[in-house]
Amino acid sequence: MFGRTNTIAIRLDNPPASSRWYPGGGIYRNVRLVKTHPVHVAQWGTFVSVREIAPLYATVDVQILLDNHTTNATLVRVRNRVRFLGQLGPLTPPVPDLKPSQSKHELERMPRVVRASIIEVSTNLNIPPNSNETVALTFHIPDPKLWSPDQPNLYKLITELEQNGRVIDRYETVFGVRVVQFDAERGLILNGRPIKLQGVCNHHDLGPLGAAINVRALERQLQLLKEMGVNAIRTSHNPPAPELLDLCDRLGIMVIDEAFDCWRKGKTPNDYHLLFEDWFEKDLRAMIRRDRNHPSIILWSIGNEVGEQGEPDGWKLAKLLVDICKQEDPTRLVTAACERPQSETNGFQTVLDVFGFNYKPHRYTEFHKANPQKPIIGSETASCVSSRGEYFFPVSTNKLEGRANFHVSSYDLYAPPWANPPDVEFRSLDENPFVAGEFVWTGFDYLGEPTPYDRDSAQMLVFTDPLVVAQKAEELEKTGVIRVPSRSSYFGILDLCGFPKDRFYLYQARWRPDFPMVHILPHWNWPERVGLLTPVHVYTSGDEVELFLNNQSLGRQKRQPYQYRFVWDNVVYVPGELRAVVYKDGKFWAEKTVRTTGEPAAVKLTVDRTRIWADGRDLAFITAAIVDAAGQVVPRTKNRVRFFIHGAGEIISTCNGDQTCHVPFYSKEIPVFNGLALAIVRGLPNAPGKITVEVESPGLKPDSVEITTFAPSTKTIK
Ligand code: GAL
Repeated sequence: MFGRTNTIAIRLDNPPASSRWYPGGGIYRNVRLVKTHPVHVAQWGTFVSVREIAPLYATVDVQILLDNHTTNATLVRVRNRVRFLGQLGPLTPPVPDLKPSQSKHELERMPRVVRASIIEVSTNLNIPPNSNETVALTFHIPDPKLWSPDQPNLYKLITELEQNGRVIDRYETVFGVRVVQFDAERGLILNGRPIKLQGVCNHHDLGPLGAAINVRALERQLQLLKEMGVNAIRTSHNPPAPELLDLCDRLGIMVIDEAFDCWRKGKTPNDYHLLFEDWFEKDLRAMIRRDRNHPSIILWSIGNEVGEQGEPDGWKLAKLLVDICKQEDPTRLVTAACERPQSETNGFQTVLDVFGFNYKPHRYTEFHKANPQKPIIGSETASCVSSRGEYFFPVSTNKLEGRANFHVSSYDLYAPPWANPPDVEFRSLDENPFVAGEFVWTGFDYLGEPTPYDRDSAQMLVFTDPLVVAQKAEELEKTGVIRVPSRSSYFGILDLCGFPKDRFYLYQARWRPDFPMVHILPHWNWPERVGLLTPVHVYTSGDEVELFLNNQSLGRQKRQPYQYRFVWDNVVYVPGELRAVVYKDGKFWAEKTVRTTGEPAAVKLTVDRTRIWADGRDLAFITAAIVDAAGQVVPRTKNRVRFFIHGAGEIISTCNGDQTCHVPFYSKEIPVFNGLALAIVRGLPNAPGKITVEVESPGLKPDSVEITTFAPSTKTIK
């Protein structure tokens, strides 16, 4: 209320055991205080939906909720314009190719893109005092440019309220024109065409940056996933930061927006079950109202592996939640991620529009037979575990093995009991093409849940190092509690830094079949294995591979049905050079060589972008690699590196992707993990200039990189 002192009280309570993963502490999302005229478009008050796409136009329905917080009936003119935005790309605009000193003036002289409105509709409305009113409109967008992962075209609805010729409120709604259908036989149909979901699940943390949203860090994650061929993500297991949805709209990534990890039955002592009764309806409605205009969202998910699946009448609560989704958004279907066998028969399978299977590739065929009308997705798949650059021998194909010293071998064959190596899911998807696709657990390693070395899995540990076993036993004895040596998960296809593990290339080979690529594992630095069997696996988008060791052919293999990797089990290790030559349809497709490296000689820096914004938010990601005299990254190295920074920036975090490393993320000194470490640099706000980052490592040649930061005044976000 004006003229009085207002108090905004915020109570923050993130108690321990409030989540099965690291939930974040403090306020970790952007908070906005929005000041409006008392007569305004309500919070999340617009809803734009596509009714039909005809050959020459699209029919779009718009509802706008207007609030009148005055004691008088108020007449307003509601002016709506639609503009075509096109494909916007990343949210962090590239720094223009200008020198810092020139930036502002030069930019002002640059031609502006003028976007003409393609539609304008105005209407008058009388809103009663202390009340609200809805305006409903239908537009025809001529020659619509559709939204899809390949061409994420966007439009913007600009709503202005005018009173006596004066604009008193302006509200912008970005939307896309696309039609999403799920079909029990053909899977997902986007704009009339079947498209397979090539998805990953992700938690909300940004690895070494913690849970607080940073747009550039999130954008980088999504760009890395796109490079792998991802076209969809599931926001496990909570609503995401809104910036993630903006990014998915712009980059072309489909989204399952998920509300809950539990309902009334909790999974940890202080999780959402304590709040469920009071909050579920408000929270679910808020999620859908906030998010329903995003073209990227293809499904709502009402929950992940909820305990109520196990109850005979659990479907009733599921139905209540589905009904709420439908009231808020009649245009989208609803799913839930189910892992309990009961959910296939006890009513969940009827209530859900799309049935989400977690880790049940062996159930797809039977479920489809029993429920021929029900679309299916693999809402959570694989859960393969690995540590980047770790390989253990002999290579076991038992999925519960491949573990040593709190690491998991990176042959991509290992998973906890409920889960599978990626190839098992691939085969089931290929045998059951009616399944709309999969969401792999997970895109990135995340903070917390270090299965198979977490408390719940501790009983299953297989240690090969007796010292570790002894230490572990001692700890147990002293504390009575199992102390977990790992702080982050092993599930990621990319590690906590965003460095790809081997699996990245297994998925890329499948998801980007037209992209010529080949990847060989393991590395070829095994001085202790001379004369020993050292299996070699090759991932490629080609269909035939010949493997050479020191120019001797080890055989040429043709891809067989349901074969997703090429395996040479009988390779006897000698140092030298492994080369894979790949063919597709009989023609050369790609080639890759992995060599035994020399001793570490230098530490080498590379940076993802040398020009960033000086806005206190934009980031540069710098990789430090231990290399030999020929510049090859030396695997298995753990050398300590120390970063120094001069100029207009600060190092806000370092990381190496080692799940067992407890060096704090703010440390400037860190051991590399299998050759690599990461430093994240932020430009100082409003202090454009040069940044120099240097790295040193005892006994190795040092290196440095330069970054230039630019005044944010030169930044324009469309
Ligand atoms: C699932 C669960 C995920 C994660 C995963 C690990 O059952 O939904 O949150 O815990 O297991 O495999």
